[in-house]
Amino acid sequence: MIIDGKALSLSVKTELKEKVSDFERQFGRKISLAVVLVGNNPASQVYVKNKIKATEFIGINSVSVILKEDSTLEEIKDKVINLADDSSIDGILVQLPLPKGIDENEVLKLIPPEKDVDGFSSANVGNLLLGKPSVVACTPLGVLTMIKSVNYDLKGKNAVVIGRSNIVGKPMALLLLQEDCTVTICHSKTKNLTEICKNADVLIVAIGKANFVKEDMVKDGALVIDVGINRTENGIVGDVDFENVKNKASYISPVPGGVGPMTIAMLMQNTYNCALKRVKNGL
Ligand code: GUN
Repeated sequence: MIIDGKALSLSVKTELKEKVSDFERQFGRKISLAVVLVGNNPASQVYVKNKIKATEFIGINSVSVILKEDSTLEEIKDKVINLADDSSIDGILVQLPLPKGIDENEVLKLIPPEKDVDGFSSANVGNLLLGKPSVVACTPLGVLTMIKSVNYDLKGKNAVVIGRSNIVGKPMALLLLQEDCTVTICHSKTKNLTEICKNADVLIVAIGKANFVKEDMVKDGALVIDVGINRTENGIVGDVDFENVKNKASYISPVPGGVGPMTIAMLMQNTYNCALKRVKNGL
């Protein structure tokens, strides 16, 4: 069965649209998301455009901050500090990657945890690790929402995550652990990758290599989620060879139309949750 991220994202966004309009009625103001884009990375430009489109659909106000490719760390930090201090801003998103030579951590640490809609701050990552309430990174949260949408029971399952990035692999593994999976994180130095993957009831692939996962790496009846977005001459493809794997998996997510739209829907959900928490805390 195909897990349709596009359809699921639409239902999440439609539900949020209602909640956002209730928020406005109740608190007499709009929710505002600041989007910071530095430089000319074409993929980042597309992602940011799609994020802004989603805010428009839902009724969230967006504030775009576009900075040149050759911006200095100080210039970027100044913008983020201004947004952090601006009480009309509920959420701040700094699109990654930042241009070469800019230390992302120096920028991300200026985002107050209560406005950190991406869940990248040390406080939010730390709370996730401790199993405390936190803002969870949008892509792993989208993956978990997709798995739950088909009522898949994660308890006690062998889950394998390929990829150990701060944005996807690490938080994904923590979320699956919280759902009582036995979790293995694989990466570029992993030995016997095929053997490990073959044992996975749940296989999450975020390796960034087009069509990398083939049938021989997949257990019969596995649930396979493809986080990859690779631009090839045949268009956008995932990290999983969909045609090759689809008949072996019990559930599989496509690319495009899988995790990508869910990341954006979760960003909207995080923004709404941050805004609600801010008003409840009198901010
Ligand atoms: N770059 C790749 N994925 C993401 C994401 O989820 N958020 C941000 N801010 N940048 C990204």
